Amino acid sequence: MLHVAIEAALEAGKFLKMNVGKIRHLEHKGGQPTNLVTEIDKKSEQLIVSKIKQQFPHHDFLCEESGATEMNSEYRWIIDPLDGTTNFAHGLPLYSVTIGLEYQGEIILGVVYDPNHDDLFTAEKGKGAWLNKRRIEVSKHSKLIDSLIVTGFPYTVNQNPDLALSHFRNFLVESQAVRRLGSAAIDLAYVACGRFDGFFEGQLNAWDMAAGVLLVTEAGGKWTDYRGYPSTVYNKQMLASNGIIHEEMVEVLKKGML
Ligand code: IPD
Ligand code: CA
Ligand code: CA
Repeated sequence: MLHVAIEAALEAGKFLKMNVGKIRHLEHKGGQPTNLVTEIDKKSEQLIVSKIKQQFPHHDFLCEESGATEMNSEYRWIIDPLDGTTNFAHGLPLYSVTIGLEYQGEIILGVVYDPNHDDLFTAEKGKGAWLNKRRIEVSKHSKLIDSLIVTGFPYTVNQNPDLALSHFRNFLVESQAVRRLGSAAIDLAYVACGRFDGFFEGQLNAWDMAAGVLLVTEAGGKWTDYRGYPSTVYNKQMLASNGIIHEEMVEVLKKGML
């Protein structure tokens, strides 16, 4: 299954890269002017799903563009065919393909592929996390003030959901620096390989994080909701870190919620 997920992610990633600057149909999702979707997102999803279906015709899918199937399978592929559509639409080379596999409700496999850096992140439950052929681990920074944090904002940011702007401000003054890359899957993969020490975002979907959460835990990190409680990929809040600074991050988030 890992092999199939990797093949699908590589093929879709190459397809995305080849199609930068070639968008013909730009639509706005849910009537929101900032929430973009293109025919490239949809084609990428079709490529991935058909590749997986060839091998596993009875598995279920939860995909950003085509939604959920209900075959009553114990396996469910959770897919974002283009994470970072805004970057992609502007020709900014920072986006990814992300594929997670859930078995009996637990994520057992995750692949995040960034075609611009040719970074292939993979994880299997109990078998560690990898970047290309190298095993990866989370960072060792132990203080928030020495930590590089990343966040993201939902398309409804103008309504300041989950107090996103307060949290952003608070982390800006309490960490070494805060970045906003525009692909939640890459944010999580970068926590897993130690490029970032922590990540928080309040309104994610299962397809943004299914693969990334397994990368983080298999690399020795931790992820919870904003209060530090165990979470699921169906709960929109995400707090991920190297584990060491987790409690300090929870405290900063609590301040934003006061
Ligand atoms: C978005 C990206 C972004 C995050 C948004 C997501 P999309 O996904 O992951 O980093 O901040 O919340 O919706 O729309 O590019 O697939
Ligand atoms: Ca996404
Ligand atoms: Ca997407």
